[in-house]
Amino acid sequence: MADVTIEVLNNGPLWVEPADGIKLLDHQGNAIPIPAGRKGVALCRCGGSVNKPFCDGTHSKVGFKGAMQAVEESEKEE
Ligand code: FES
Repeated sequence: MADVTIEVLNNGPLWVEPADGIKLLDHQGNAIPIPAGRKGVALCRCGGSVNKPFCDGTHSKVGFKGAMQAVEESEKEE
């Protein structure tokens, strides 16, 4: 399996690439089908998608502002 990259998109979803070989499971461990032929998948992190866990673009409509910077563990506790 190729290395998988998860990218936090600016004020948007998590982009997971490549889609081939990814195992996406629901809270009960059931497989969630990934649409065929995709280079990657966008996973909602705004909570607004009606097609969860996938992003449907709602983040743009609701003005979602996501954190972008990686935060050191020691900085979180301050
Ligand atoms: S991140 Fe796109 S709809 Fe939630």
